[in-house]
Amino acid sequence: MAGNIQIISPQMIKEQYDYMSKVRQINSERTLYATVKTYGCQQNEADSERIAGMLKEMGYNITADESRADIIVINTCAVREHAELKALSITGQFKHLKSKKPGLLIGIGGCMVSQEHRKEDIKNKYPYVDFLFGTSMLYKLPEIIYKKIKTKKRQFHLDDSDGNIAEGLPVERFSDFKAWVSIMYGCNNFCTYCIVPYVRGRERSRKPDDILNEIRGLIKDGYREITLLGQNVNSYGKDLGMDIDFSDLLQMICDIEGDFTVRFMTSHPKDATFKLIDTIAANPKIAKQFHLPLQSGSDRILKLMNRHYTFESYKALADYMKKKIPEIAITTDIIVGFPGETEEDFACTLNALEQIEYDNIYSFIYSKRKGTPAAVMEDPTTQEEKAKRFQRLLDTQNTISNRKNQEYLGKIISVLVEGRSKTDDGKLTGRNEKNRLVHFSGDDCLIGKNVKVKIIKADTFSLMGEYIEK
Ligand code: 5AD
Ligand code: SF4
Repeated sequence: MAGNIQIISPQMIKEQYDYMSKVRQINSERTLYATVKTYGCQQNEADSERIAGMLKEMGYNITADESRADIIVINTCAVREHAELKALSITGQFKHLKSKKPGLLIGIGGCMVSQEHRKEDIKNKYPYVDFLFGTSMLYKLPEIIYKKIKTKKRQFHLDDSDGNIAEGLPVERFSDFKAWVSIMYGCNNFCTYCIVPYVRGRERSRKPDDILNEIRGLIKDGYREITLLGQNVNSYGKDLGMDIDFSDLLQMICDIEGDFTVRFMTSHPKDATFKLIDTIAANPKIAKQFHLPLQSGSDRILKLMNRHYTFESYKALADYMKKKIPEIAITTDIIVGFPGETEEDFACTLNALEQIEYDNIYSFIYSKRKGTPAAVMEDPTTQEEKAKRFQRLLDTQNTISNRKNQEYLGKIISVLVEGRSKTDDGKLTGRNEKNRLVHFSGDDCLIGKNVKVKIIKADTFSLMGEYIEK
């Protein structure tokens, strides 16, 4: 395997547990609270659950109310400038909390601060931030917090390794029925627009036994939905030297007894295999949903992005999926306005949406990331033109989504109930196997359960239904 991947031994994890108990000792006199603020992707959500797990072990009560907090940890994202600005702005807002409560500790971690220039920004422009830890320093959080408390000195912890795998850290899961399980970390693909390989290190897979044991425990605890996480899950196992690939891992997970659904993200189209599609088709436990980021429908742009596939090869995969699993919901990520994207290139992307007929797309206007190859490419298209293309992309997809949602009218579908909607008159909300959002009236006792709902109204973004009693 390329790079300088650090091995974190059980002894090193034990040391961190020792730091956790030292901090707990210091904290034992008072009731203390901690808030974890998360920006970005599911991988960050999963990391935050570990951050919260460690904070809890250190004696802090986890609260969403930052005004009560004695320690705030901000877990940042770097994938687009907007995400960075949001994290910096919230960090700025915490300054006044600290002036009211001088003992408050403020820490910042994750992808944004894993960039050297951002570390310097925090050091110089945010003097009230007490500690900073890069993505590969997450397991050392207890030590970092302990040192801050003991020495009163600001702590800045970034290393130049290519990442690590730390097993056995405590986890405070934010849901009682949906769980994230990272199966691998990092990325080797270096798509030219993307900062992730620079801030999350090289690809490294967790051992199958560690993953299976974690999932067995979750199923025993009543979790209904397991989402496997990795920047490119299709590379799973390549570094293990064990003759196991992602399809094999999925099969082993499906062989665990119990009533649960498995999802996974994200797949790189260059590594997605027909074998994987066959595995999904053959296993009722795997959700019939596939997130396959296309990024652009233009082969010229795909090449500039260093994506290693063409629209034709992508479409062959999608067609095979639709043939083998007719009910499959395919979703994607699209970047609009990559440097040098012409009107003709963009037309290929719109055409791709029509041809694949995605159930949903996640679309982004290209954001220049310092240090990536695309950041120095010629980019003559104005932001205004990019915004117009973005709107055209949304309009095209909205028509397709609406058309696909209408197909649900009158049908009875199974929905995992997630909670109450914040907007839709407080109705219950949930998702079906294809991740479609469904709203309906019902009792709180249905939250966390799989229920049957009849669809009575469909619009572009969601379905409205009626709960069907057994
Ligand atoms: N600008 C815009 N979108 C980006 N993504 C990654 N990097 C950038 C960038 N620099 C998008 C890709 C990826 C998703 C997680 O974020 O579409 O699949
Ligand atoms: Fe970024 Fe490409 Fe890796 Fe995804 S596969 S994390 S887009 S470099």
